[in-house]
Amino acid sequence: EAAEKGGYEHFMIKEIYEQPRAIRETMSSRLAKDDSHIILDELKWTKQEMAAIKKIVVVACGTAYNAGLVGKYYLESLSRIPVEVDVASEFRYRSPLVDENTLAIVVSQSGETLDTLAALKEAKRLGAKTLAITNVVGSSISREADQVIYTWAGPEIAVASTKAYTTQLVLMSMLAIYIAGLRDTISAERSRELISGLRNLPAQLHEILEDVESIKTFAQKYGFNEDVFFIGRSLDYAVALEGALKLKEISYIHAEAYAAGELKHGTLALIIEGVPVIALATQHDVYEKTLSNIKEVKARDAIVIGIAQQGDEQIKKYVDHTIFIPQADKFLAPILAVLPLQLLAYYAAVTRGCDVDKPRNLAKSVTVE
Ligand code: AGP
Repeated sequence: EAAEKGGYEHFMIKEIYEQPRAIRETMSSRLAKDDSHIILDELKWTKQEMAAIKKIVVVACGTAYNAGLVGKYYLESLSRIPVEVDVASEFRYRSPLVDENTLAIVVSQSGETLDTLAALKEAKRLGAKTLAITNVVGSSISREADQVIYTWAGPEIAVASTKAYTTQLVLMSMLAIYIAGLRDTISAERSRELISGLRNLPAQLHEILEDVESIKTFAQKYGFNEDVFFIGRSLDYAVALEGALKLKEISYIHAEAYAAGELKHGTLALIIEGVPVIALATQHDVYEKTLSNIKEVKARDAIVIGIAQQGDEQIKKYVDHTIFIPQADKFLAPILAVLPLQLLAYYAAVTRGCDVDKPRNLAKSVTVE
C-alpha cells in the first residue's frame, strides 16, 4: 500500500496533487488545436436531435451531485436548455417529468452507485436520452447509459472524492460548450475564451499546490472548532457545498454551506464570536453582494477566511485571512476554488487524527440503497 501511495501519507493527498495531471487527461485530444471547439467524438448526437431536447436532468449522489450543480450552471448558461439537478435517491421516488425530449445525465465516479444506476434505469424507462459521466470504464452505469464520456481521472482510492470532482467539472464545462455549439447558442469568441481558460487550469492548480503552508496553518488553527460555515453566491455556492461535504466526511466537523444571501433568513443566528466562516468570493458579477454578506458575518465577530481571485485587494479589508486562487473566468473559478477547500478538509482531518482515507461509516462506492 505504501508503494501505491507514491510517498504520500494518504491516498487523498496523493489524489489532490494528481489533479493537474488528471485534468490534463480529461481534456487531452478533446480541445481543438485552435481552441475553436470541443471534440467529443464519443457522442453521436445530430444537430436535429439536440435541437429537440427541451430539458436536461442531472442525477447523482454526494460529490457527483455537487458537480452536477455546477454543471447546471454551465449547461443552462451556454445551451439555454432548462436543467434540473436531482439527488439520485430522490429522483425515482417523485415520478419525475421526463420524456423522449429529455436528456438525463448521470454523474458517478465509480459508475456503481446503486441509487444513480436505478435513477438512470428509470430515466430510460420514461424514454429519456441518457448520458453517463463516469470514471470507470465498463462500470454498470457506463454499460446502462445510451452514451458515455469518461473523466479519465485515473483510479480514485480515498473515500473522499477530489480529482473525480474537478475532472467532472472540466468535462461538464466541455459538454456544455459542445452542446451549445450544436444548438448555436454560444459565440465563437466565448467558446474560444473558455477553451483557452481550460488549457490554463493544470498550471493554475499547480500554482495553488506549490504553496499550501497557509492552508495547513488555518486547518491546524481552526481544526478543533466544532462548526464551520461555508458561504458563497452563484457558482461559489455550489463549491461551498462541496467544501462543507469534504470537511464533514473526513474531519467530522459539523459544516454547513449556505447561499450567502440566505444567511439572514435564519442561519445568521448561529454566527457568533469565533465561528469560522469560509467565504468564497470568486464570482465577479455577484462580488459586491457577497462582500456585504461577509460584512454581516464579520459584524457578529466570526473568523472569516476569504477565497478570492488574485488581485482582489478589497476583500482583505473585510476578512481575517485570504486564500487567493489564480485569475480565471467565472465559469472555471470553481475548479480552482475547490482546491483550498479540499486541502483545508485534509489538513483538518490530519490535525484531528482522523482516518483520512477511510472515514467512519462510509464506503467508497455505495452499492446498497
Ligand atoms: C465524496 O467525497 C463521497 N465519498 C461521496 O459523496 C461520493 O461522491 C458519492 O457516494 C457518489 O459516488 P459516485 O461518484 O461513485 O457515484
